[in-house]
Amino acid sequence: MAGIFITFEGPDGAGKTTQVMLLERHLRQKGYDVLVTREPGGTPVGEEIRKLLLNRSHQDMDALTEMYLYAASRAQHVRQVIKPALDKGIVVLCDRFIDSSIAYQGFGRGLGMDVVEAVNRYALGDILPDLTIFLNIRPEEALARGRMRLKEADRLESEKLEFHQRVYQGFLILQERYTQRIKVVDASRSVEEVFKQVLELVEYLLSCKK
Ligand code: TYD
Repeated sequence: MAGIFITFEGPDGAGKTTQVMLLERHLRQKGYDVLVTREPGGTPVGEEIRKLLLNRSHQDMDALTEMYLYAASRAQHVRQVIKPALDKGIVVLCDRFIDSSIAYQGFGRGLGMDVVEAVNRYALGDILPDLTIFLNIRPEEALARGRMRLKEADRLESEKLEFHQRVYQGFLILQERYTQRIKVVDASRSVEEVFKQVLELVEYLLSCKK
């Protein structure tokens, strides 16, 4: 059986990492073979690219350079990790994927959705998530909750609020465009309530795949 590919998306501070961890634990308990990974990163080459991307001293990085670096990390990740795992029937949980590039570089940086999708087409090959969980929280709220740290933040997190608002609008547009693949969960609720919704979506997907 081919594996299942689930990605988690949302603004900085949406609580993706916690939800990925909870889902991993749950699926393992149920006997699934699970791989947790993230972007940018997920491979030795990708983790080096991640350092470059998030380093706050690179304030002069051009938006196009940034887009290509995220796509480069993704190309390595898809070929070295994601595709081989899916071929082995593993459930792959990925903290951010293509939709982050569209939201952050396409909308946040203003490069446009078409450019980012075109560049990433080669990085993705025939790989697309079976399910994308969009953890929906307004950036103002994530900020107010202290989940998004502007001090000690990485290069992207430390962008001004208007940037994060454009990113957020991007996620909303994506979710309207790909309603089949992208499912929305209200991330302003408690961790337990959010996880309950996440689990409903995942269990439905698993039942369809059986
Ligand atoms: P992430 O690992 O989610 O950060 P953290 O663990 O600190 O929450 O992602 C790092 C940053 O990279 C985040 O601000 C979003 C950004 N990003 C993009 O701009 N484009 C992309 O394609 C991806 C995958 C992430």
